[in-house]
Amino acid sequence: MLIQSGMDWNITFSVLDPDPFAPCQSLCECKVGKLTDYDTVVAFGESCDLITIEIENVNVNALKELRRQGKKVFPQPEVIELVQDKRTQKSFYKDKNIATADFLLVENRQDVMAQKSFLPAVNKLGREGYDGRGVQLLRTKDDFEKAFDAPGLLEKLIDFEKEISVIVARNEKGDTQSFPPVEMVFHPEANLVEYLFSPAAIEESVAKEAERIAKKIIVDLNMVGLLAVEMFVTKDQEVLVNEIAPRPHNSGHQTIEANVTSQYQQHLRAILNLPLGDTSVHQPSAMVNLLGEQGFSGQAKYNGLEEVLAWPGVYVHLYGKKQTKPFRKMGHVTILDSNMENLKKKVNFVKQTLKVTT
Ligand SMILES: Nc1ncnc2c1ncn2[C@@H]1O[C@H](COP(=O)(O)OP(=O)(O)OP(=O)(O)O)[C@@H](O)[C@H]1O
Ligand SMILES: [Mg+2]
Repeated sequence: MLIQSGMDWNITFSVLDPDPFAPCQSLCECKVGKLTDYDTVVAFGESCDLITIEIENVNVNALKELRRQGKKVFPQPEVIELVQDKRTQKSFYKDKNIATADFLLVENRQDVMAQKSFLPAVNKLGREGYDGRGVQLLRTKDDFEKAFDAPGLLEKLIDFEKEISVIVARNEKGDTQSFPPVEMVFHPEANLVEYLFSPAAIEESVAKEAERIAKKIIVDLNMVGLLAVEMFVTKDQEVLVNEIAPRPHNSGHQTIEANVTSQYQQHLRAILNLPLGDTSVHQPSAMVNLLGEQGFSGQAKYNGLEEVLAWPGVYVHLYGKKQTKPFRKMGHVTILDSNMENLKKKVNFVKQTLKVTT
């Protein structure tokens, strides 16, 4: 999606991806290699003018070396480094007085087991957890056996009303611009975004506060690029930061059709030090992640495409992944409708009709 957006501006892309069948193969020069390997990343970056990421699990020392060689690297390697570990992320919020769930740093399962009075809590792996895979809910001490036996966090369980996200951009000149908050609904089993609504149905004051926090974070990080800030809105309408991602984000896919500027174009504007685009919403929208159906693994087959495309305001994006497996993100669908009830109806129809099997 970033490449599609960059084509409008004659930008030539090279991509480094560990998967020899990566979907970008047909769109640009695609090198196969490990993102965590220092030599691979340095060798790859030497042919580029500007380097960006869309996954945080990249060798940051290699990115620092590329910057030393005079390449532009956005987001900056230090930001990626901070985000790679949920412990440094949370400590950063604390240092900067940014509201977040109370937490303790833990080294192993034994540390967790010593914190009975901190329950109910959420145990998170410090590094390399994503799409909910490094998150474990501990309600009582009977759940201690589920705790991770690795460095991480213990966070107070927040009884939130909503989960929202604000995407904010900043260019080298220091201009910032945020997108209106969106509301995320998580899949109870898969622990990843199942669908979202944009704009979020929240009080104006809560939306303002969320945008203020997102801007504060990108400025405090002195970051250039695009930053997604995931937040909880509590029952008392307090806004707490959950986590951040310094890249185009799942909570911004709908901006392609639903906002004046897409998150992908905004990312390019930010890292190229161009004026940031208008983020306002054209029309309310929903975004449904198209996940691999449970019980199917193998060559992907898409069912129900014609049926969903027959509905007005339905935009299907398939990611070109050849193989499906349960809950793999295979694409997404954006749905536009100015009426909230219709939007919900269309979301249910799309979820029931469009299925990825084998
Ligand atoms: N302190 C908390 N209290 C209540 N729920 C929480 C808490 N922390 C996380 N969660 C729930 O778990 C989900 C996943 O947590 P988090 O975003 O930290 O993990 P992740 O693996 O990085 O997720 P993803 O990659 O999907 O964004 C959150 O979106 C939220 O629904
Ligand atoms: Mg998250």
